[in-house]
Amino acid sequence: MFRFWLPSGLLASCIDFALAQNSNILPYIDPLIGTGFGGHVFAGATLPFGMAKAVADVNGENQGGYASDYSNITGFSHMHDSGTGGSPSLGNFPLFAHPGCPNDELDKCQFTSTDRATPQINGSVLAQPGYFTITLKNSVRAEMTVTNHTALYRFSFPKGTPEMPLSPLILADLIDLPKSRSNGSISVDPKNGRIVGNGTFSPSFGIGTYDLHFCTDFSGASIRDTGVFMNNRAGSQPKNLTVVTDGVNNSPEILPAGAWVRFNAPQNNASSISARVGLSFISTAQACENAEKEIPDFDFEATRNAAQQAWTDKMSVIAVTPGTVSAEFQTIFWSGLYRASISPQDYTGENPLWNSTEPYYDSFYCIWDSYRSIHPLITLFDPESQALMNRSLLDIYRHEGKLPDCRMSLCKGFTQGGSNADVVLADSYVRNLTQGIDWALAYEAVVSDAEDEPLNWAVEGRGGLTSWKSLGYIPADDFDPYGVGPFTRSISRTVEYAYNDYCIAEMARGLGHTSDYEKYVARSENWKNLYREDQNSTINGTETGFTGFLQPKFLNGTWGYQDPIFCSPLLNFTSCYLNPDGLETYEGSSWLYTTYVPQDMASLITTLDGADAFVARLDYLHESGLLYIGDEQGFLPVYQYHYAGHPGKSAARAHSYIPSQFNTTVNGIPGNDDSGAMGSFIVLAMMGLFPNPGQNVYLITPPFFPEISITNKVSGNKATIRNVNFDAEYKNIYIQHATLNGVPYTKNWIGHEFFVDGGVLELTLGPAESAWGTRYEDLPPSLSTG
Ligand SMILES: *[C@@H]1O[C@H](CO)[C@@H](O)[C@H](O)[C@H]1NC(C)=O
Ligand SMILES: *[C@@H]1O[C@H](CO)[C@@H](O)[C@H](O)[C@H]1NC(C)=O
Ligand SMILES: *[C@@H]1O[C@H](CO)[C@@H](O)[C@H](O)[C@H]1NC(C)=O
Ligand SMILES: *[C@@H]1O[C@H](CO)[C@@H](O)[C@H](O)[C@H]1NC(C)=O
Ligand SMILES: *[C@@H]1O[C@H](CO)[C@@H](O)[C@H](O)[C@H]1NC(C)=O
Ligand SMILES: *[C@@H]1O[C@H](CO)[C@@H](O)[C@H](O)[C@H]1NC(C)=O
Ligand SMILES: *[C@@H]1O[C@H](CO)[C@@H](O)[C@H](O)[C@H]1NC(C)=O
Ligand SMILES: *[C@@H]1O[C@H](CO)[C@@H](O)[C@H](O)[C@H]1NC(C)=O
Ligand SMILES: *[C@@H]1O[C@H](CO)[C@@H](O)[C@H](O)[C@H]1NC(C)=O
Ligand SMILES: *[C@@H]1O[C@H](CO)[C@@H](O)[C@H](O)[C@H]1NC(C)=O
Ligand SMILES: *[C@@H]1O[C@H](CO)[C@@H](O)[C@H](O)[C@H]1NC(C)=O
Ligand SMILES: *[C@@H]1O[C@H](CO)[C@@H](O)[C@H](O)[C@H]1NC(C)=O
Repeated sequence: MFRFWLPSGLLASCIDFALAQNSNILPYIDPLIGTGFGGHVFAGATLPFGMAKAVADVNGENQGGYASDYSNITGFSHMHDSGTGGSPSLGNFPLFAHPGCPNDELDKCQFTSTDRATPQINGSVLAQPGYFTITLKNSVRAEMTVTNHTALYRFSFPKGTPEMPLSPLILADLIDLPKSRSNGSISVDPKNGRIVGNGTFSPSFGIGTYDLHFCTDFSGASIRDTGVFMNNRAGSQPKNLTVVTDGVNNSPEILPAGAWVRFNAPQNNASSISARVGLSFISTAQACENAEKEIPDFDFEATRNAAQQAWTDKMSVIAVTPGTVSAEFQTIFWSGLYRASISPQDYTGENPLWNSTEPYYDSFYCIWDSYRSIHPLITLFDPESQALMNRSLLDIYRHEGKLPDCRMSLCKGFTQGGSNADVVLADSYVRNLTQGIDWALAYEAVVSDAEDEPLNWAVEGRGGLTSWKSLGYIPADDFDPYGVGPFTRSISRTVEYAYNDYCIAEMARGLGHTSDYEKYVARSENWKNLYREDQNSTINGTETGFTGFLQPKFLNGTWGYQDPIFCSPLLNFTSCYLNPDGLETYEGSSWLYTTYVPQDMASLITTLDGADAFVARLDYLHESGLLYIGDEQGFLPVYQYHYAGHPGKSAARAHSYIPSQFNTTVNGIPGNDDSGAMGSFIVLAMMGLFPNPGQNVYLITPPFFPEISITNKVSGNKATIRNVNFDAEYKNIYIQHATLNGVPYTKNWIGHEFFVDGGVLELTLGPAESAWGTRYEDLPPSLSTG
């Protein structure tokens, strides 16, 4: 049930008001941020959480399709993921456009992705929400926009020359970006040029295969001839082909194959041809239907305007008063929000795996990256979408038997640590997100994670549950004949499982499962079992001065050893992925994981010798180079000063990372964006309310703007955070005192009720830390202190 249900007219007027204040935010969104080295951000055209994602694909670092790396363009494809590591994702069935073939000879056109790759004209790229354009050295300008399941391209051609008369050839290739196709079919209709096809492909970070279908129609020029190509040869007969894995060639360069349409010179003023590509995971017929329904008339401007309006509407619930804050900071903020709204992707109606009336979202890529900030942010600005995502997670549980930790392209992805969908669900539960969510089923699902080990815990659930239940930690040399998965990461899995169990305990309490509550609370203290109080840490032989770190432990109870700085940027940073020889911490050091007790920071601080020692340790973690903010476990330590009674230090720390690590350059995010995780960190940090995900807690710091407000779409209420004594030089970043709805407010945290009920949180700022939010009774809740 909705907590407050307003007549839709009233709700609309709230939104319209926010919209009016924000009508000009789209210019502050730069989709090219994070397309430089390592960011892997999707820069092309998409709707919020949309399935169709069109962009030019490069042959350089092409995980997200396009990259600002000056490598060559191989085609224009219609589906992508954003910001992911590992192999490139999707990029199936790219189109490529030639203005003509040399000497007008078909076989002199280049067909394969290697041969046709063409440099871009530098400076020709323009990326905006819902729109992307680029001009290639062959003088073809490509523009693209999308609806939910359809990409629309407009190719504009140069004038012809005697050597190459204008007679555009547009091909569709059965390839995908990771070159994973195992079989595919394509056919072209010689009468109208319609190209339909399908293929079987592999996911980029998971197991299994998926089938995808497409349907391309053209408009703007008459058809000269049509046909298919294989390798670099093309012919006008036959009109279709099927390629299968031949069992002989195991070359990763799969056999190039596809279809083409050659046109007479377009007669319109722009000398352009439109190509509309419908997509479906169900069938080519549904791909064609999606295209015909969503873009019946090939109207590029109308489609582009609708996409931009969709973005304006989605973001209109957030209003910022920029004051004298620079355009750069506004761009950092809005672009971060934009990137956090690209995935998960709404594939509702496109799931071939089971029939259901529930929504189906995909590209939870991965929840290990997204639970800390993406889902809490979506809950703030788009609770309705978060509710649909939760229902989709539960439908996956219903039909696959487990919640996913990572999922892309209809396939199970690899689990990195705990069963962190438990945190996503608990986060929504404690925020009273109820719309259509079956909480009894959700509880069953999270308990299944905690109790029943699956045969393949590399892709779902947890491993080592027998030891977890009997010993209270994951042993470094675990004996686990009950399932398979990478027997590594014993430290990071232990702290994540402990927090997962805490989240289950919260749900158990709310749902009245009292004995479960006690059981899971007890298990949430298991992090203590790997805490070695006499473990010291040196860097290059010099003592850091800090003692007490998480260490591996064997089945027999004796300690193992992993250098506490191992897996940090200072030592073997890249040795700790899912590699079989990975050690006991995942993508981070023991230094970092030793701080991961979000459920009981009070107990952790006591364990680490009290507040002053903890603050010194956090300072050292941030300033020594041990912490990399480009991995999501780095987010919470920016704010954990709050638990030690130093909320001002959290604010200062946030400013130390923004803009030095998060800025408007194409390289302006640290590492992969991870489906928008980096973007969501920016938004939450600049908004001044950072969540402790899984708990009803936001840690308060001053927003980076004079004022920011969020209208809750479910309740219709508006929550405003206002800075007094704000300065855009960020000298006054320390809260001196605060009021909530005019009443003095001393706690350094606030609950989600603020967003549901609305109100005004007013923060008076000054240039130095104050006593505000520092007393014991002002601190956020911890398990051990109630
Ligand atoms: C891009 O294409 C140009 C011209 O065809 C070629 O010289 C260059 O090597 C290509 N670069 C890459 C990265 O493929
Ligand atoms: C585009 O700029 C890059 C980087 O400066 C340069 O390497 C490349 O040659 C330029 N390409 C063209 C077509 O001018
Ligand atoms: C895209 O799909 C969403 C979710 O179903 C829907 O709300 C939205 O209206 C669709 N957008 C367009 C432009 O059709
Ligand atoms: C792909 O299309 C071909 C030709 O229409 C058809 O025979 C084949 O079953 C389709 N494959 C899939 C996976 O749908
Ligand atoms: C090509 O189309 C013809 C006629 O529709 C059909 O009989 C044949 O099976 C198709 N071949 C392939 C390889 O799909
Ligand atoms: C879903 O229902 C349709 C129509 O009844 C059927 O053709 C299809 O096989 C079903 N799919 C699954 C995965 O059960
Ligand atoms: C959730 O609902 C309960 C019961 O109505 C209420 O006490 C609590 O404040 C609500 N929490 C939030 C975050 O809205
Ligand atoms: C640090 O630990 C090592 C190994 O346990 C030990 O040899 C060394 O004496 C310790 N150093 C200090 C200063 O405690
Ligand atoms: C450790 O020593 C090596 C070799 O002298 C040096 O390159 C490195 O920067 C040092 N690391 C730290 C964290 O001081
Ligand atoms: C405990 O197990 C570890 C790992 O197998 C082994 O190295 C160690 O010697 C054992 N300790 C005892 C006391 O048996
Ligand atoms: C640490 O990195 C070095 C150099 O890359 C490598 O040789 C070594 O095997 C790594 N150690 C571990 C334990 O991964
Ligand atoms: C922008 O962010 C990137 C990535 O974190 C960083 O390497 C770069 O130094 C930053 N640039 C500026 C001008 O701060």
